[in-house]
Amino acid sequence: MNIVILAAGQGKRMHSNLPKVLHPVAGKALAQHVIDTARSLSPSKLVVIYGHGGDVVRSTLAADDISWALQEPQLGTGHAVMQAVPALGDSGQTLVLYGDVPLTQASTLKRLLQAGKDGLAILTVELENSTGYGRIVRDAAGKVLRIVEEKDATAAEKTIHEVNTGIMSIPSARLAEWLSKLSNSNAQGEYYLTDIVALAVAEGVPVHTAQPDGEWEVLGVNSKVQLAELERVHQRNIADAMLVGGVRLADPNRIDVRGELAYGRDVSIDVGCVFEGRVELADAVEVGPYCVLKNVKVGAGTRIAAFCHFEDAVIGPDGILGPYARLRPGTELGPEVHVGNFVEIKKSTLGAQSKANHLAYIGDAEIGQRVNVGAGTITCNYDGANKFKTIIEDDAFIGSDSQLVAPVTVGRGATLGAGTTLTKNAPPDSLTVSRAKQVTLTGWVRPQKVKK
Ligand code: UD1
Ligand code: CA
Repeated sequence: MNIVILAAGQGKRMHSNLPKVLHPVAGKALAQHVIDTARSLSPSKLVVIYGHGGDVVRSTLAADDISWALQEPQLGTGHAVMQAVPALGDSGQTLVLYGDVPLTQASTLKRLLQAGKDGLAILTVELENSTGYGRIVRDAAGKVLRIVEEKDATAAEKTIHEVNTGIMSIPSARLAEWLSKLSNSNAQGEYYLTDIVALAVAEGVPVHTAQPDGEWEVLGVNSKVQLAELERVHQRNIADAMLVGGVRLADPNRIDVRGELAYGRDVSIDVGCVFEGRVELADAVEVGPYCVLKNVKVGAGTRIAAFCHFEDAVIGPDGILGPYARLRPGTELGPEVHVGNFVEIKKSTLGAQSKANHLAYIGDAEIGQRVNVGAGTITCNYDGANKFKTIIEDDAFIGSDSQLVAPVTVGRGATLGAGTTLTKNAPPDSLTVSRAKQVTLTGWVRPQKVKK
């Protein structure tokens, strides 16, 4: 089986410099959705027809298993498939997909291929309003005769509700010849792929139809309006699958999954959260409203309060995080760690039961277990040119508003007094303070405003 993906169209109505097929749904290019689905069917040849925005399309979607065929100029869908012919073998079926129809399910395509085993098969849908689409013309017995495009249709043909989705399976052995017979004498002056249906019928090749499970599977994108509509359809499908899988969603219409989200039992997610890349939420994880998690692993029982932003981080079980916590790449938190509001952690590890509850910056640090990082603590990890490491050993207590000038080590069980600027290692089990002795000046008066 061959698959040909048509992706040469310009997409004028997108009003964008980005080629249409590269616009994202769920964070992934439209055509990438189609390529991924195509790949899941293990075709022997996968050909993408490109044209508008050529090099960008090719370099963005490049993969070893894709053959590319340039269509320049674009003279219609039949002309587009013609460009793929040299790359195709002439055995089996050739499945034609559109690069701007991203949500077709593999199961639907398998059904279409099954229907087309002994001939040609068209994926069709019945639409209440079929305006704009090619109509499926059948004879009195219901046998498919041909497809007529909107612009070429008679008034009677325009009343047909069954339309061509554009997706079809064609016998590879007949493809080249049928395409060579296409003419462009029609209302749009284009070589219509759809005209091969009448050619198949004339040769007595059986023509079948198959239908998708849902109409959304065959919706295409021609404008930002349709792009936004498809995004919502897709997100709602993902949310519904999560609900079925046992996740509690405060509102299935207010979640965005732009990647892969794995979850355990009794996970709950509040409104407005965005998940990107690969996110794993173990059993009983709770995610509060308006959190953004990208490539994050969260251990069982961890609770994340509102407005957190985590990226490339691993969070242990039974943690309490947020609100307003930020975990940047390379953060690893052990079990029962607390990270509170306005705490930023980068490329650092925090051992079990350590806490940084308020207003801190922790970068390039190795923090042991049961450490308390006081409010306002900052690791000074950067001298403007180089980054240095801060090590805080188990059971240390860092007083509020301390600066740890790296490289520096706070020993096991050490305490730093509030406001310490640590430039040398703090010995274990001792109190280290760096501030001057407190004095009170007698006789001092506040400056007064002088009246003019
Ligand atoms: C096409 C079908 C129509 C069907 C409709 C479904 C034809 C003649 N008509 O019409 O029966 O109901 O799709 O949406 O096939 N493309 C190229 N090169 C070209 C022309 C198009 O790659 O020269 C690509 C486009 O980028 C797009 C797809 O083919 O992905 C469909 O093209 P479009 O112009 O949208 O076809 P329609 O007129 O909508
Ligand atoms: Ca179209």
